[in-house]
Parts: sequence; C-alpha cells; structure tokens
Amino acid sequence: MDAADMGTDLAKTLLSEEEIARRLDEMAAEIDRDYAGEEILLVGVLNGAVMVMADLSRRLSTPLRMDWMAVSSYGSGTKSSGVVRILKDLNTDVHGKHILIAEDIIDSGLTLSWLVRNLSSREPASLKIATLLRKPDAAKVDVDVAYCGFDIPNEFVVGYGLDYDGRYRNLPFIGTLAPHVYGG
Ligand code: XMP
Ligand code: MG
Repeated sequence: MDAADMGTDLAKTLLSEEEIARRLDEMAAEIDRDYAGEEILLVGVLNGAVMVMADLSRRLSTPLRMDWMAVSSYGSGTKSSGVVRILKDLNTDVHGKHILIAEDIIDSGLTLSWLVRNLSSREPASLKIATLLRKPDAAKVDVDVAYCGFDIPNEFVVGYGLDYDGRYRNLPFIGTLAPHVYGG
C-alpha cells in the first residue's frame, strides 16, 4: 500500500513500509550494541509514537520496560507553540533508569527539548532519544538525538502514527499531504 492507493489525499510516498522496516532493523541493532544488556525504559510519546514503539521494541533484544507520556504542544494547526502541557504522565519512577525516548518526529524540537528537561530533572541514570524522523530545516532548538531514522524535508507528513486532524495515523507508510487537504 502506498500513496497511489489513497486517492488524491496524499501527494506522494516519502518512505515506504519496506524502507521504514529496514531502517528500524539498523536502529535496533545499534541500540542493542550500545546498551549491551542494560535494561532500558522505553518512553513513548503519545499518540504519534505508537507505531515506532511497537515496531522498534519488537526488534530489540535488550531487556526493556515500556511507559507512555502524552503531551500537548500545539494550540491548533500545524505549528508547535513551545508551550507544553502534560496530558498523561509516566506511571514509572524513572530515578536511576536508562530512559530511551521513542519519537515519531522532531520538527521544531521544542516539544522534545522540553521533555528532555522535564525527564532529566527526575534523575534517570541516562536519557537518550530515538526518533524515526527529523526535519533539520525546521529546527528551532538543538536536540541531541542518539538514533535518527531519516532526515526529511520541511514538509507536513502523515502516516505511520502521524496524523493530520486525527486522520492517516494507520497508514503503514509515510506520505506528504496534497495541498487541497489542508486548504492549500
Ligand atoms: P516539535 O515542533 O515540537 O513537534 O518538534 C512535535 C510534535 O509535532 C507533531 N508534528 C507532526 N505531525 N506531521 C505530523 O503529523 C508532521 O509533519 C509533524 N511535525 C510535527 C508530532 O506529534 C511531533 O511529535
Ligand atoms: Mg509526537
């Protein structure tokens, strides 16, 4: 399944299901090497990171626990405000744990840099970030990313967990929206 199966809503496929799977294999191998059997607390950022969490975690042989946070950084529309609100906090006390944040995308970086500061104040043993996508041209703040799947152009993307107005999260690939969908 790709953008061509989606009628006219999607402009194009940016990353196919196969490309995503291959890159996740590589990222998981690297993570397994780096942690060398130390237990990870994988922290998924809801809702976008659900697919990355599911598909990355199943490739890891490092022992791990999972937990979830939900944050909101967008008032409305498609731009990050930098004002972050915790909608759902972790269930886990992260003190002394090796946190690996699993993210779908780093755009401006504002949400994640806030999250890193917030989680660091809880004194984990270590804190690293794994993200499937990053938009280097959209960065407003520097975020230190240990594992990045793909650097992508500064376009709004959907699929594989990412939504536009709540839709398209279930697409198995990542595509760009046709301008008419968002009123362009
Ligand atoms: P920032 O700008 O704070 O963005 O790094 C954080 C969150 O914004 C969402 N986001 C997107 N969602 N397509 C989407 O569907 C995009 O192109 C996009 N860019 C940012 C996403 O939830 C991310 O975690
Ligand atoms: Mg997200």
